[in-house]
Amino acid sequence: MCGIFGIVKEKEENLGPILIGAAERLTYRGYDSVGMATISGDKIDLRKDVGKVDTVAEKFNISEMSGQRGITQLRWATFGAPSQVNAQPHLDSDGLMVGAHNGNVVNNIELRQQFIEEGLTVRSENDGETCVHAVERYLKRGYEIIDAIRLAYGDLAGDYAFVLGQANDDKLYAMKKGSGLVVGIGDDFTCLSSDLPSLLPLTREIIRPQDGEIIILSHDQVELRSVTDGKIIQRESEIITESMDAVQKGGYPHFMLKEIHEQPQVARELHHLLDDSSELDSIVDKMRNARNLYLIGCGTSYHACISGSVALAQIAGRAAIPVLAPQFISQFAPTVNHEDVGIFVSQSGETKDVLNALAAAEVKGMTPFGIANVIGSTLTQFTNSCLPLGCGYEISVPATKTFTNQVFIFLYLAHKMAGRDLDELAGIPVLMEKTLAMVAPQVEELASTLENVDDMYTLGYGATFPIALEGALKLKEITYAHCEGMLSTEFKHGPLSAVTENYPIIFVAGKEDIPLIISGINEVTARGARAIVIGPDDERLRANADDLIVIPDAEEQISALLAVLPLQILSYHMSVARGVDPDFPRNLSKTLTVD
Ligand code: G6P
Repeated sequence: MCGIFGIVKEKEENLGPILIGAAERLTYRGYDSVGMATISGDKIDLRKDVGKVDTVAEKFNISEMSGQRGITQLRWATFGAPSQVNAQPHLDSDGLMVGAHNGNVVNNIELRQQFIEEGLTVRSENDGETCVHAVERYLKRGYEIIDAIRLAYGDLAGDYAFVLGQANDDKLYAMKKGSGLVVGIGDDFTCLSSDLPSLLPLTREIIRPQDGEIIILSHDQVELRSVTDGKIIQRESEIITESMDAVQKGGYPHFMLKEIHEQPQVARELHHLLDDSSELDSIVDKMRNARNLYLIGCGTSYHACISGSVALAQIAGRAAIPVLAPQFISQFAPTVNHEDVGIFVSQSGETKDVLNALAAAEVKGMTPFGIANVIGSTLTQFTNSCLPLGCGYEISVPATKTFTNQVFIFLYLAHKMAGRDLDELAGIPVLMEKTLAMVAPQVEELASTLENVDDMYTLGYGATFPIALEGALKLKEITYAHCEGMLSTEFKHGPLSAVTENYPIIFVAGKEDIPLIISGINEVTARGARAIVIGPDDERLRANADDLIVIPDAEEQISALLAVLPLQILSYHMSVARGVDPDFPRNLSKTLTVD
């Protein structure tokens, strides 16, 4: 999730401090590189590098940059490792145009190849540069700028927003397709950004462009045009009254809740990314032909590995062994060789336990692949290929959107291995939206009844087993209550003795396993427990459960994925009710770089 900002003034002035300020306000989105460009007359000044805003600003004397227009971009790597050349903004071949984007152009590699064949100068691997050349190629063919942008829009697949300025012009141009973009109107300037927080200290009058719109910024005017026919679109401006803190959290009280609600969108974007990935075929091929296939991670990422193992077995008939990374070293590393494949899964790509397992696997010649959210992290550098989670920066310590996208990747790999139609997964984002809308009020109410509970269980079976484990982890991370996740059928082998009157037990029910779950429910309700069930709308569940949280009907694996959403929301509300800050729970760290 990168961030862009652009500003247009009437005449040349010192823009450096404005660009630095906007960049600093975008940092909460996460980034690895930063860049600034200013444009005046025929002069474009571009300064960029890997590093923090203040370091890069000092190194390149950004505060002294001046221009009539300015662009800044904070990059969170997806295409191309973090490096100066991949940092944004990017120039066109002749240094007459500069642009930057936020999002993912999923046909980046194909387009770069076309530009090289057409004789354009491609300097980086980054898809922001691809956006610039996508416009440049049509300018070179004689099109006017607006038509060139319209044609580029048709060529650039994926979800992104893009801003661009030319020498010998006085405007900035932008387009929006699936990623955030907001326009600000000031007294003597106009500006735009990926999100509101970077605009707010400059102006509170804003316009919200929609997907499929081109934005033309002059210092005293904002024009929106349809990408389809180029016609002008009228849109009223609005005045923002919320505080900066509320705006940064997208109007939600905590980042965790914001990130929970971002899940449908990041899943949608990930689907597009995977559809265009050039690495998937060879990864799937190696997985299929491996002697043994291991899925390795810690914490939430380990739960995604178990989900992946169930999905690969049920959908593709391929056995995969989910392993906690440190246990891989002692239990499996002595047995592996070059015929085996390991998929190392980590949000941060820096978890020491995972990197230790990777090192142990490499000594034995095992083929390592990765799944990570932070591109440029150690895991992405030391695996043969590393698939991106494409979630952008996850701020809250409890992982939410990165978990669902990890599970999504495994579903995708399993479908691909089985030769199944990948469009079967296209409905997931809408089902997630539906789930959030269906369960939110009921789960909030449920949380208020569990507020003082200090001990509970979450139980699942088959595809819902890892979801029960993940729900328990969320609950214990941020409520400080004890919550244990386990296989529902194991509960009678010991934990049943904990059950007393009103003892809460959460069952995650897949529709194939309802009779088994009902046995489990009765085993505990007969001893006074309160059985809370997350599952499909089913008469049998309704009749046996004390509380039934209904999720939309879906295929078994997808239904399991949906079931984690009410558990995330439950842990969030219980956390807040117990006076805990769910974003930053005590004693825990987002990235654990120690043994
Ligand atoms: C820490 C975090 C967990 C996370 C685990 C693995 O313990 O608090 O939320 O699941 O590390 O992190 P990774 O970045 O490897 O997914």
